[in-house]
Amino acid sequence: MSKFKRTLITTALPYANGPIHIGHLAGVYVPADIYARYLRLNNKEVLLIGGSDEHGVPITLKAKNEGITPQDVVDKFHGIIKDSFQKFGISFDVYSRTSSKIHHETASEIFKKLYDDGKLIEKTSAQYYDEENKQFLADRYITGTCPKCGFEKAYGDQCESCGTSLSPNELINPTSMISGNHPVLKETKHWYLPLDQYEPWLKEWILEGHKEWKPNVYGQCKSWIDSGLMPRAVTRDLDWGVPVPIEGVEGKVLYVWFDAPIGYISATKELTPEWEKYWKDPETRMLHFIGKDNIVFHCIIFPSVLKAEGSYNLPENVPANEFLNLENEKISTSRNWAVWLHEYLEDFPGKEDVLKYVLTANAPETKDNDFTWKDFQTRNNSELVAVLGNFVNRALVLTQKYYDGVVPERGELTDYDKATLAAMSTIKAEVDKSLETFRIRESLKNAMDLARLGNKYLADEEPWKVVKTDAERVKTIMNISLQITANLTICLEPFLPFTMDKLRGFLNFPKMDWDKLGETDLLKAGHKTNKPELLFEKIEDNVIEAQLQKLQDTKKANELAEAKAAPAKENIEFDDFSKIDIRVGTVIEAEKVAKTKKLLKLLNDTGIDQRTVVSGIAEYYKPEVLIGKQVSILVNLAPKKLRGIESQGMILCAENADGSLSIVTPDSEVKPGSEIR
Ligand code: 2FM
Ligand code: ZN
Repeated sequence: MSKFKRTLITTALPYANGPIHIGHLAGVYVPADIYARYLRLNNKEVLLIGGSDEHGVPITLKAKNEGITPQDVVDKFHGIIKDSFQKFGISFDVYSRTSSKIHHETASEIFKKLYDDGKLIEKTSAQYYDEENKQFLADRYITGTCPKCGFEKAYGDQCESCGTSLSPNELINPTSMISGNHPVLKETKHWYLPLDQYEPWLKEWILEGHKEWKPNVYGQCKSWIDSGLMPRAVTRDLDWGVPVPIEGVEGKVLYVWFDAPIGYISATKELTPEWEKYWKDPETRMLHFIGKDNIVFHCIIFPSVLKAEGSYNLPENVPANEFLNLENEKISTSRNWAVWLHEYLEDFPGKEDVLKYVLTANAPETKDNDFTWKDFQTRNNSELVAVLGNFVNRALVLTQKYYDGVVPERGELTDYDKATLAAMSTIKAEVDKSLETFRIRESLKNAMDLARLGNKYLADEEPWKVVKTDAERVKTIMNISLQITANLTICLEPFLPFTMDKLRGFLNFPKMDWDKLGETDLLKAGHKTNKPELLFEKIEDNVIEAQLQKLQDTKKANELAEAKAAPAKENIEFDDFSKIDIRVGTVIEAEKVAKTKKLLKLLNDTGIDQRTVVSGIAEYYKPEVLIGKQVSILVNLAPKKLRGIESQGMILCAENADGSLSIVTPDSEVKPGSEIR
């Protein structure tokens, strides 16, 4: 356990411009929650801090698109996000928000202190400006081509294709997100944090002093520092955010990445008047749980701000995770490629722990990882149900059956019994070791070894067989199985808190401190347990198929939305066009062409005559719905035999990007034979 007296755990503040998904949970909140619960079980003083990041351009853009205010946007999503966290049991001591008064005051104070102490540089430079909307185009208000990879929709602050962090002036062919116009350059004054001045200190503090940080975190810091740090603007020309607290300055706010991490401080202030103890006492250890895209902000920029301010602690560790993909594709809010927590809660009520288990077992700790619904099903069915649930259920049901729920006395122990009991302490040591080094995924595997130990013990000892010949021996077997079950309630508590609560109910056993884990006599002989229910239930194929279908539908919708129209064909003369004779016709009869999937035979009143046309629309229209419908018919197309039927023309259809067909029909009923031109 660490030498510090207390721990302050911060979790990246999610943007309140949309709900949260499994990627958020896996990368940040589940590992942070597990770690916080572990410390609490060890009676350590710990705070788990969270909140919504309510500033920044994505929020104002969303508000503009939806015709509502930024405050409306953040109020809505702060509520949804907070609710999801609460239902998933993320045990925040406080979940705050950056549009709050206390945050505005805190962020202003820190900025003001840096300004007054001469720690910021004032600089006027030419920045892009949208003349139509009379607005400077900061960050995501501007898009263009990435100078590094050529991606055409890079943002003013970052290219989402290659991950490079950018400034608007680097974009090729910059375009305003508001008007679509090409912006002009205009002078504006801003304040910069001279990161270059902090370079020697950062080298010493991180590159020399924190070699224990995860390789992905250390590596990113090294690469930033090695490529040379530059002064970074900490203000923006926007009207949503914390106003720049300098007299006479109007229409400027603090950069969202300046104020957001200060949100951790404001949240602590909101929670307790003793907040300074968590931020300024060197006996407090600060940990930032974040995703990899936040590394530079938490390891370089925010620490430089804290260092410049002078009175705050610096993070002791930043256990950042890589990204979680979904079914082999990058999770994307804008493309709706995600498993949204509020939807999961509706689709899988009572299975919050199952998702947290799967996300931890497959956490993207050292590399990007993939969430698949198949893996979710397998881990539920073959690990939670078949190992943990099965063991606990057999131990408790047999205790009910043989002893009416009362823990039996154990007799003489075999070597196998002794080894099994001793293995519990070994497992504790392993869980401790991996948790303390933030290898959360491994720690879950270690903890599940206890369930595997129990399962194997019961399978090897077969009390249901032994009971027929040696009832005394069965008492020992069941006593040991129950000791393992009681130990499980401690060992798995940080990972599966709802389930362990249930299990404690079955065992009629209180919540125990972590240091009791490994004890071999937690349940005394004579203790009465309750009638158990199943801890987990099997997830059937049809449930998984429904989730996969949902994703398929999303994929299709995205393909349609993203499909580009084919380029226009070469120009033709009007005379060429007038050779084409298209008439409105009314369908009189319609039937499927036998032994074909795609063809319908339609008899149409064309005004000129009644004629038969064979059309490849059978996959999209049932014959009966076409009767009486008006269609567009190319009537002077040379007749052609299709499946033995002479087709005298062609029914015109619009072909959608996915190849589906939609009949072109007049907007209001017209006389058959009317020309289309
Ligand atoms: O990347 C994000 O979603 C940011 N909103 C994280 C902010 S973390 C902290 F600085 F507030
Ligand atoms: Zn790029």
